[in-house]
Amino acid sequence: LPLNIVEGKEEGAKEIASIIADLIKEKEAQGKKTVLGLATGSSPVMVYKELIRMHNEDNLSFKNVVTFNLDEYYPMSSENKNSYVRFMNEQLFDHIDIPKDNIHIPDGSLPINKIEKYCSKYEKKIKDQGGIDIQLLGIGRSGHIGFNEPGSAINSTTRIVKLDPITIADAAKDFGSEKSVPLRAITMGISTILNARKIILTAWGKNKSVILKKMIEEPVTTKVPASFLQLHDEVTIYADEDATTELS
Ligand code: F6R
Repeated sequence: LPLNIVEGKEEGAKEIASIIADLIKEKEAQGKKTVLGLATGSSPVMVYKELIRMHNEDNLSFKNVVTFNLDEYYPMSSENKNSYVRFMNEQLFDHIDIPKDNIHIPDGSLPINKIEKYCSKYEKKIKDQGGIDIQLLGIGRSGHIGFNEPGSAINSTTRIVKLDPITIADAAKDFGSEKSVPLRAITMGISTILNARKIILTAWGKNKSVILKKMIEEPVTTKVPASFLQLHDEVTIYADEDATTELS
């Protein structure tokens, strides 16, 4: 897997944001929309900051951008301070000119009997937009991408899943305690992610070093769902020095 080792989040984020901005401008010139797959969590925050800067200072417009977020906790109301809806509004959408109708985030507030149908509609919406041009990813210490935890199948699509204990432990800092973290989430599948034309994964910091090694250097396995990215031919990883210390 192609790996860019950058000095830090800021430098990496600038490169990633300019790749995204160039594509938006290129497609706009052809009268086309750009479809972005977006992640939450700490990994993409600097990328969103840089995109907001480009919007404010360089006239970058998001009028022709359509977004699909990877995941949302379940159950989760959009007003909850830990919802990914809140996160995306605060970190990106409230600061750019994207039309509200172009934003898609899995709905964590639906009754359980509506989820299956909702998830197939989410998949259909992605297809109807022509598929995802660039998918941003972080990686969890469980090996997850999106919330595709160990055991996720290569052909999995958007669905409801159980969170791995490692993911719940890592989310405890946001929720105040482990027992306040939702046990489930709605997530795009491995197949949804692998269908994106280009994938950019970021890994920052020491606590990603062990899982980064497994993802890159060990055989593809459902035990490390991120290892499925080895099967995609347009993946770029951005990592800082601390995240690469375990690599051989
Ligand atoms: C978030 C997501 C997750 C995170 C991963 C890393 O939408 O899909 O896979 O990318 O848990 O989280 P951070 O970036 O907070 O270390």
